[in-house]
Amino acid sequence: MRIHHLTRRRARSGLLAGLLAAASVLALGVTVAQPGTAEAAASLKSLADAKGRDIGFALDPNRLPEGPYKQIADAEFNLVVAENAMKWDATEPNPNQFTFGQGDAVVNYAASGGKKVYGHTLVWHNQMPNWTANLSGPDLLAAMKNHIAKVAGHFKGKIVAWDVVNEAFADGGSGGRRDSILQQRIGNSWIEEAFRAARAADPGAKLCINDYSTDGINAKSTAIYNLVRDFKARGVPIDCVGFQAHLIIGQVPGDMQANLQRFADLGVDVRVTELDIRMSTPANATKLATQAADYKKVVNVCLAVARCAGVTVWGITDKYSWIPGVFPGEGAALIWDENYAPKPAYQAVADALGSGPTPVPTTPV
Ligand code: XIL
Repeated sequence: MRIHHLTRRRARSGLLAGLLAAASVLALGVTVAQPGTAEAAASLKSLADAKGRDIGFALDPNRLPEGPYKQIADAEFNLVVAENAMKWDATEPNPNQFTFGQGDAVVNYAASGGKKVYGHTLVWHNQMPNWTANLSGPDLLAAMKNHIAKVAGHFKGKIVAWDVVNEAFADGGSGGRRDSILQQRIGNSWIEEAFRAARAADPGAKLCINDYSTDGINAKSTAIYNLVRDFKARGVPIDCVGFQAHLIIGQVPGDMQANLQRFADLGVDVRVTELDIRMSTPANATKLATQAADYKKVVNVCLAVARCAGVTVWGITDKYSWIPGVFPGEGAALIWDENYAPKPAYQAVADALGSGPTPVPTTPV
């Protein structure tokens, strides 16, 4: 109101007209506290904070010198995950020789902005260092346990939750394990060995199993469900399940909420860990609108499940997304475009985070 009043008075002055125009543009960029519009100007971080949920992004610390990358990272997220910096090849390039520079950069960046760090990932069949390729079963098991002890030990106390094991289950309808070298050489016990080692190394971190194409109810997600149920029954430590959600526009599983809820009902937290929603490129307004609706659906699924800790997007800008390199002809999967302009999906995420009841903070007893 004040701005409008001033506007009318000063608009008579030709001298001030230019200044006034500039001021009006600036005024549009700031949060104006009017009912119904305040949420649109708030950051994803402030909206997620108010809901008590995490809104995360996959960070490449080498991109932080790029102004808009850092500005968005700083303002919009309350959780950080290393896109690559904490993987086995990055942290232990030679046997028992550890390099934590990039991982530490991720942790230091998060600490400087008061953000949580999600650990990704202790054991995965991809991005394993070459030296692991020819190890015997017993040697690979010993190497895996040492890797977990040293990496989770190094970051002890700084990680809210670890993807202890990533992508251990087979695609398709078999409901079986992935035929990785870990599975072949160590056998079924490798997953629980990894979880026990992680608990010993950092008792304060929640321990998660993470996978893709497990967002809906299917043979693969049911295989993980059965593993979690078995671990819980036998006292193998496990606290959470990550759903990567590398999705395609128009294909958010209709039973995603029911799927996350069935895991939560086993007594574990759930989390959307690597969200991106790709399309055939180039993008157009129709595809971007579908994508926005899909992002909203996924965020709403998480908000509807009390034990869903949050949603993490797998990058900031379409400029650096992993999608075009791995799925030729597809891309535009994130919520800021190649020029860091927010896409319709950005507003959709904000709308989802901003709607519905805000939980009353609980008083500690
Ligand atoms: C991807 C990274 O985004 C790429 O930069 C890297 O070249 C390969 O890995 N599932 C996962 C992530 O768990 O670690 C993957 O990240 C994407 C698929």
